[in-house]
Amino acid sequence: MELTKNRAVLDWIDQQVKLTQPDQVIWIDGSEQQLEALRKEACATGELHELNQEKLPGCYLHRSDPSDVARVESRTFICCKKQEDAGPTNNWMDPEEMYAKLHRLYDGSMKGRTMYVIPYCMGVVGSPFAKYGIELTDSIYVVLNMAIMTRAGQKAVPYLDEQFIKGLHARANLDPEERYIVQFPEDNVIMSINSGYGGNVLQGKKCFALRIASNLGRQEGWLAEHMLILGIQNPQGEVRYITGAFPSACGKTNLAMLIPPEGYQKNGWKCWCVGDDIAWIRVGEDGRLWAVNPEKGFFGVAPGTNAKSNPNALATTQKGTIFTNVALNLDDNTVWWEKLDKHPPEHALDWRGNPWSPETAQGPAAHPNSRFTAPAENCPCISPEFNNPHGVPISAIIFGGRRAKTAPLVYQSRNWRHGVFVGSIMASEKTAAAEGTVGETRRDPMAMLPFCGYHMADYWQHWLDMERDIAHPPKIFNVNWFRTDEKGEFIWPGFGENMRVVEWILKRCFDEVGARETEIGYLPNPEDINLEGIDVSRETLAGLLSVDRDLWRKETEGIHSFYAQFGDKLPQALREELAGLEDRLKD
Ligand code: GDP
Ligand code: PGA
Ligand code: MN
Ligand code: MN
Repeated sequence: MELTKNRAVLDWIDQQVKLTQPDQVIWIDGSEQQLEALRKEACATGELHELNQEKLPGCYLHRSDPSDVARVESRTFICCKKQEDAGPTNNWMDPEEMYAKLHRLYDGSMKGRTMYVIPYCMGVVGSPFAKYGIELTDSIYVVLNMAIMTRAGQKAVPYLDEQFIKGLHARANLDPEERYIVQFPEDNVIMSINSGYGGNVLQGKKCFALRIASNLGRQEGWLAEHMLILGIQNPQGEVRYITGAFPSACGKTNLAMLIPPEGYQKNGWKCWCVGDDIAWIRVGEDGRLWAVNPEKGFFGVAPGTNAKSNPNALATTQKGTIFTNVALNLDDNTVWWEKLDKHPPEHALDWRGNPWSPETAQGPAAHPNSRFTAPAENCPCISPEFNNPHGVPISAIIFGGRRAKTAPLVYQSRNWRHGVFVGSIMASEKTAAAEGTVGETRRDPMAMLPFCGYHMADYWQHWLDMERDIAHPPKIFNVNWFRTDEKGEFIWPGFGENMRVVEWILKRCFDEVGARETEIGYLPNPEDINLEGIDVSRETLAGLLSVDRDLWRKETEGIHSFYAQFGDKLPQALREELAGLEDRLKD
């Protein structure tokens, strides 16, 4: 049954039904009863596999097509009227041309299938900052994931107005050559086809909350960012919040669920997770920045997640979770992935569904980009502010990436403008989260390269312009957990131990510690990072905090060639910041 009489909504759905020709249309009301019936149906068709319900209650495994296991940036388009508005870092096509192309692909694509209508809300339902959309999909997997990741169903329906975000997804025949993830920011339309992989087709996430929302944020004076939000409670009981932008599979979920080292816990430190992937950030009436997490679940990287690296994430996945492309342990019908523990299952199916055992393994059991979709409410450290419609006030913004060399463990920018520069020059080694060569270094400004829904130079200008409205701007930092030694091993222990760096960052925000000024910004005096209880020497730390002038001179060349593509649109402030850096690096 239709859940609304809103003509704008119904007319649009009618058009999509005429186009895709499903056998039936079902509205998702969000009730547990309806979702449970869909789980049963998906298990019957093999779309889902029910896991051991005693050990993993409410948990299921899904395998996506082996050609469809990561976001496809080369197939992702921003279609606005003028190519200039999409900028040099986005794929672009004329909207008319793209609509025509897509209409041919969607034509009759749901014949014999069911179309599900998912009304959903990004943010807290009813809050002044929430945004609403509908995703039409022929995938039960998408319905069940959206029900975890967003506030979906009946409760979103009364808020659907003229501005709602219109999304259409069809699995079609999963042809990688005809796979499209398309945003039409001028029409508030999202269309994805020929994929069933989460990051491509859970439209609330990257398509809406980043690509479309970054456009809305620019128009309305706020920021939609690829950021985690973490609350840090000190021994006095005060909670300070930081946000962090790292590219996909570079440590957001881990930092967002950080458990302080034992010594810190003894002293009364505690961390709270507000968000692990996306932050919508506005200027509050008090002149500070306030961040909300528009999502309701975590779509996290499975491999590497274990009881030591991220016990909170592991605990979060023990009920009501959908696993995608992990291995199936046949002995007890549970899941496994690399580094979950030291005991790979003797009898397993790998992420493709083929027999796998540690002795005969040709490759990993779980896909490197295998994922869990888990409800935020499962997380042992979920913040009491998680559902606060106003969000949380931000003391620090952290940028970071995966760099074997060059970037030190942490440094602080001189001011907002320099901080925007530091974000704009972010670089990181590519991961399995998107197609392409893993390990290749690329510039990924603010971790938004694949997600900024408009011209990157305009986006930087928007960041720069925000300064006018922020009476109390957060301090901006850069971190790198991933420096390696000559054997290629990570030097810094990372994970929970990152608390030591976070502590320094907070001290800087509240003027509680000094720093040394370098060519690239403020670096810690090595004695100011707490090393108690870890096996890192002062010397090693000094190495992690060194600035290699030769490498940084090379870095500035890289920045020049990256910036070159933006021509005259590059904000003058960033040009000046680069010149300043070059000056300081001169002998
Ligand atoms: P996200 O995709 O940005 O949320 O990244 P995740 O937090 O899921 O981490 C991606 C991968 O990086 C996982 O395999 C983690 O185990 C690994 N990782 C996360 N934080 C650290 C860290 O501090 N040090 C090291 N060496 N690896 C990390
Ligand atoms: P991630 O989220 O940032 O946690 O990897 C998914 C993605 O960015 O593709
Ligand atoms: Mn992400
Ligand atoms: Mn994550």
